[in-house]
Amino acid sequence: MSEEQQRPAAGGQPPTSNHQPPAAGRQSPTSHTLWGGRFQSGPDPRFWALNASLAVDQRLALHDVRGTAAWVRAIADAGVLTPAERDALLRGLDAIADEFRRGAFAFAPTDEDIHTAIERRLKELVGEPALKVHTGRSRNDQVVTAFRLWLRDAVDDLDALVRDVQAALVARAEADLEVLAPGYTHLQQAQPILLSHWWLAHFWPLQRDRQRLAQLRARLNVLPLGSGALAGTTVPVDRQALAHALGFDAISPNSWDAVSSRDFAAEFLFWAALLGVHLSRLAEGLILFASREFGFVTLHDAFSSGSSLMPQKKNPDGFELARGKSGAWVGALTGLLTTLKALPSAYDKDLQEDKAPVFRVYDDLRALLPVLAASLRTLRVHADRAAAALDPATLATDLADYLVAKGIPFREAHHIVGQVVQQALARGVPITRWTVDDFRAVHPAFDADVHQALDPWAAVARRDVPGGTAPQRVREQLEQARQALQARP
Ligand code: ARG
Repeated sequence: MSEEQQRPAAGGQPPTSNHQPPAAGRQSPTSHTLWGGRFQSGPDPRFWALNASLAVDQRLALHDVRGTAAWVRAIADAGVLTPAERDALLRGLDAIADEFRRGAFAFAPTDEDIHTAIERRLKELVGEPALKVHTGRSRNDQVVTAFRLWLRDAVDDLDALVRDVQAALVARAEADLEVLAPGYTHLQQAQPILLSHWWLAHFWPLQRDRQRLAQLRARLNVLPLGSGALAGTTVPVDRQALAHALGFDAISPNSWDAVSSRDFAAEFLFWAALLGVHLSRLAEGLILFASREFGFVTLHDAFSSGSSLMPQKKNPDGFELARGKSGAWVGALTGLLTTLKALPSAYDKDLQEDKAPVFRVYDDLRALLPVLAASLRTLRVHADRAAAALDPATLATDLADYLVAKGIPFREAHHIVGQVVQQALARGVPITRWTVDDFRAVHPAFDADVHQALDPWAAVARRDVPGGTAPQRVREQLEQARQALQARP
C-alpha cells in the first residue's frame, strides 16, 4: 500500500447530531475564525448529519491536498497568486499532509467535508493567501479529481494483491502436477484431470481481471480539474500542465461531463463484482473439496475457524467470506448505477454517494485477497483421496474413443459404452474390474487391449492439445502462466 493510500485518522470529532451549529452572525470572509463565516443561519443538526460527508470522504485527504497543491501552482502561473503567496500555500499544504500522515489533523465541528476541512486548516496555518486558494475552482471538479487520484492508487494496490493470489495458484499448480482428480460438469464426475489444471483454470480469469483493471485505469487517469462547477474555470490555467503535474494521461474534453461522470467508479465496481464472481467460484470449489465427502484438501488451522458448540468443527470461513462478500460487491455496483442513472445536472448531491461503495469494496478486497493467497499456499492436498474418489465411469469417454479407434462411428460407440456403464451399475462391478470377455459380451469390437483405455493417467495424457489436461500441456500452460505473471497485464 502506498503511503498516500493510508486512511487519515480523524484527529477531531466529526459533527454529530448533537452538534449545535455556531450561532448566526455573518463574519467577514477574511476572518481567521474556524467556522464563523460559513453559515448565514446555523444548519439544523439533523440536516447537517445527513449532508456532511466528512466521515466518508476524509479518506481522500492526502489526495485532496495533492490536487490542491497542483491547483495552487496552476493559478499562480496564471497570475492569481504572487510567488510568495504560492510558496506559503504550498508550505501550508505540506504541513497539512504531514498532520494527516501522523494522524494529528484535528477536525473541526464545522468541517462539512474533507475539502472544507483542508481549506479551513490552510487558513489557520497560512492566513490571508488561503482565501485565494479556491479561485476558479469548485468542489465539483475538486472532489472528482481527488477521487480519481485516490482510486488510481487503490487500483495499483489491488493489482498487486490479485497478482499475489495468481502467484499462489501457480505455486499450487506447480506442486500438484502429479495429482489426479475427478473433473466435474454439473457437479457430476465427468473426466479425470490433473489437479494442476484445475488450479490454473482459476488463474486465467484473474489474469483477465488484471487486464480489465489496467484498461479501466487508463480511462480513470483523466484530469477533471479546471472544469469549475460545470462550465469551465475562468482562470486561464494550463490544464495540460496540471494533468502532467498530477500524473494524469489526459484532460477531460467537456467540463460538464468531467464533473458529472462517475464512469470510473462504476467500472471499478463492475471490475470488483466480476473479480468477486471469480473468487467466489474458486472459494466454492475449495469449500466442497475441504468437506469430508470430498476430502481432497485440508485447510491450515491458521486460516480456518471453529464452532462455539461443536468441538470437532473446522470451518472454511475465509473462503465463505470470499463467496459472501462478493455478493455485496454486485450490490455496490447496482447501487451506484442506480444512483447515477437519472441525474439531471452536472453535479447533484446524489454524487456524494459514490465513495462509500467504492471504499467498502476496496477495504473488503484488501482484507480478503491476502487471506486467500495465504490460504492457498498453506492448504494440504490429499492426492490419495482425490485419486480414490475418481469413479472408473469417468473413463467411459475413453472407452468410446477406444471403439472409435477400432473403426466404430462415435455415436455408435457412445451407445455401446452407455450399455457397458448401465450393466456395470446393474452388476455392481466397476468397468475397471471387467474381464475382456465381459466387454466382448456387449460388443465384439472390444479386444484384449481394452484395459489400456481404462487407465486414468492414459486418459489425461490423451488430452494432448494446447489447453488440455495432458501433463506436458499443463506444464506448457504453467509456463504461460508464469510469463503472464512477469509481464504487465
Ligand atoms: N462532499 C461533496 C461530494 O462528495 C463534495 C462536492 C460538493 N459539491 C457541491 N456542489 N455541494 O460530492
